[in-house]
Formats: sequence, C-alpha cells, structure tokens
Amino acid sequence: MNTIIEPFRIKVTEPIHIISAEERAQKLKQAHWNVFLLDAEDCAIDLLTDSGTGAMSTHQWAAMMMGDESYAGSRSWKRFRDVVQDISGMPFVFPTHQGRAAEGILAECIVKSGMIVPNNSHFDTTRANLEYVGADARNMPCTESMDTAAQYPFKGNMDLNLLRETLEQHAAEIPFVMITVTNNTGGGQPVSMANIRSVRALCDEFEKPLVIDACRFAENAWFVKQREQGFADKSLTEIAQEMFAMADAATMSLKKDGLANIGGFLVCRNEEWADSFRNLLILREGFPTYGGLAGRDLEAIAVGLREALEEEYQRYRHATVQYFAKQLDAAGIPYMSPAGGHAIFLDAKKFLPHIDSLQYPGISLVNALYLEGGIRAVELGSVMFGSFDKDGREIPSPLELVRLAFPRRVYTQSHFDYVLEVLKRVYDQRSTLQGYNITKQPPFLRHFTCEFEPV
Ligand code: F0G
Repeated sequence: MNTIIEPFRIKVTEPIHIISAEERAQKLKQAHWNVFLLDAEDCAIDLLTDSGTGAMSTHQWAAMMMGDESYAGSRSWKRFRDVVQDISGMPFVFPTHQGRAAEGILAECIVKSGMIVPNNSHFDTTRANLEYVGADARNMPCTESMDTAAQYPFKGNMDLNLLRETLEQHAAEIPFVMITVTNNTGGGQPVSMANIRSVRALCDEFEKPLVIDACRFAENAWFVKQREQGFADKSLTEIAQEMFAMADAATMSLKKDGLANIGGFLVCRNEEWADSFRNLLILREGFPTYGGLAGRDLEAIAVGLREALEEEYQRYRHATVQYFAKQLDAAGIPYMSPAGGHAIFLDAKKFLPHIDSLQYPGISLVNALYLEGGIRAVELGSVMFGSFDKDGREIPSPLELVRLAFPRRVYTQSHFDYVLEVLKRVYDQRSTLQGYNITKQPPFLRHFTCEFEPV
C-alpha cells in the first residue's frame, strides 16, 4: 500500500478554533508581535514545539494509574530505571523534571568557568546552562549543515576536523564533548553512527568523556536504519543501544522521544560523576528515586520510551514530515532539505531575501503564518541565536530558520493540508512582508520574552 496510516485511532478529542483574522491581528499586537506571548487557545494549529505536546497512548494513560507515589524506592521508579538502563546501558539513572534540569546538573557538577564544551550544535538551554557556569559552548556542525539545499543524509553530523583542532589546542579546558541527536537547531537533522563513532575515537585519543543530548534518539535511530549501511536489519532499540554504548553520559528531555508531557533524565557510567549528580539532584529536583517527577510520570515515560522505538510509529511520523516536504518542493518553498525528524525548518533568508537579518526575517515569517491562518511556529534565527560582540554590536545567526515542529501523534493529515494552504498563501504575498525591530529584551534566552514592533 502507498498510504501510510496513523498507527492509532483517536479516542479523546480536544476542540480547536480558528479565531478571525481581525482578532489574530489584535492578539499578536497585544503579544508585542512575539508568538511566545500569545495564549495557546488563540492558536489554531500550534507548531511552536514538539516538546511535551504529544498525545499519550492508552497504554501510557493506563500506566499512569499504576503510579506509585512513594517518596523513596517506588515501583514506578524501578520501572522507569529498568527501561532507561536497558536502552541507554548506563548504570546510574537520575530522573529530572525536564531536559534543562539534567543539563544544569551536568554543567554545575562538571564544568568550570573558562572551560570549552564542543557540540555539533548546542540547544539554547544547553548553551545557557554552560554559559551560566562561565563556559564557552562551541558549535561544530558539519559544513553541509550550513547549506539548506545540500542533499546529504546526515546533516546533523559533527565537523570532525574542527573537533580535532579544538581538542589539540584546548585539551586542558575541555571537560567533555557533546553530541546532540538529532541536531535540533541545525534542522532536526540526523547524526550517523559512523560520525558518533569517530567522535568517540577522538574522545578516546584525548581522554575526554562523551555526553549525548538524546532528546530525539529514537527519530535518529530511524534515520540510521533507513540511511546508513549495515543497519537495515537491526531494531530501533538495538540501534539506540549501539549509540548509547559509545557515550559516558547522556542528558534527555523526555518531552520528545519519551512521548511524555514532562520529564527528563541524566544518566552516566562513572561513579564519581554519579555521586556529584545525586547530591545536586537532591538539592534541586528531589530524592534520587523520583528526581523531578511524580510516580505517574515515571510510569508514562517508561511506556513512552518503548513506544517511541516502535517501527510502525516512526514510519508514520516520518511519512508525515515527508508528505509535507514533498508539497513544499512542488510549491518551490525553501526549507532545510532533506527534511529532518521532528519538524520542517523553513529557510526564512531565502523566503524573504528583502529583509535584513537584523530585522529578523524569521520573525516576519512566523508572524505572517499566525496572521494568515492562526498557525504558531518558532524562529530559529538571529533572535534565538544572534549574539553581541564586545562593543555591543549585534551579530546575526548564519541561518534564519522558522521551525514548524510536529507534535507527536496530535495532528492529522488535514491539519497539515491546512498548514500547507496557509503557507502557500503567505509565500504568494512574500514580497509585501516587513521586518521587525526589538523594543525590549532580557539578557538571557531573549526569544521567549522579547518584544517587537514592525519596521
Ligand atoms: N536539548 C535539545 C536538543 C532540545 O531540543 C531541548 C528542548 C532541550 C535539550 C531541553 O529540554 O525543554 O525538556 O528542558 N527543546 C524544546 C524545543 C524546548 O522546542 O525544541 P527541555
């Protein structure tokens, strides 16, 4: 059959509404043209993030009822621990309330001011946690990742030459090397097993631990199975296990491939690291057998991690992204191609070539999608990743992307057809769209709360 169906049927529905164009214009103005400041109920299709926005299965809801809320040593903890240990192969498991809490504990325990942490691309919270303790978070994506049209199967790979150079020059200042699978900020692009193996070899040569940011490890495993030689006959679980086997520790937001609405973990092999993580976990999150989570959340996650590794589920998820990408190709709409695992990343620089990077073409496109059809997307460009030089001059991000993140098991094909229709309309009007100026911004993670004004 050519039609790949959703491997589930819908048992509970949640109503959504499309408010009028006039109301949308008014709401966006009230939100200072920053879609993070909109009310969710005013967004018809919410593609802001794939994080914590997924739908749980009947098995997960049933497992939640089995939640053991004992403070210490609960059954739910043991179920969570066993699944995480099985997939990651790591003996020490720490549940956190979400990914950034795991990153914060890792940074605070292991990283000192003046240190350098290489990564294919740090997610913004990872960067912020490292910078908060005074470290330099360096991105080393492969060169193919900088060209949104380059057809390369593993655009999430790390630049091995740059990593070697950095290790040769700064070995003493590097506490560990990180690799993010899939590379979210680079377009949800996969990392090959061969690339992780080479990163591991460099870590061995320079005696550095390797830490995986594993948020979308199951989607990455699907790409490895499809695209990398030698993996076609392996299960997604086996592929994931092979990947984790190369790491010394991992952080994960379980709001992605944990198929849960909240949760995270920090895992490691080294007992000394584990001791320091445990102490800080107790201070910041909670007792080590629940960390930042309720027993019912631990249950839902234990089931969700297994479901994320089901081939039927990944086949359907990737088919949705491919369906969307194919329509964009037909309409000539520029995006990061080939499409990644959890989202479509529109290329706002090519979409709106007349808008200067420092007037934020990504924000212009995000806002146009909301005004035209009540769709909420997110900018991953100069607002999120821009920086300032020592004279306070703003340096734009090399890419201006707009992410349409696909919540897991939430929207049907007709929802995506609607998004495509809106997108095509915005594309037809693209020459009339304007840039934005920032009128107010905080010192960290400015994209969440900064305010804009149309130019
Ligand atoms: N690492 C990556 C690669 C992520 O994509 C995220 C979150 C985190 C770490 C932090 O996890 O949110 O649970 O604290 N990404 C979300 C997103 C927010 O929209 O891409 P968290």
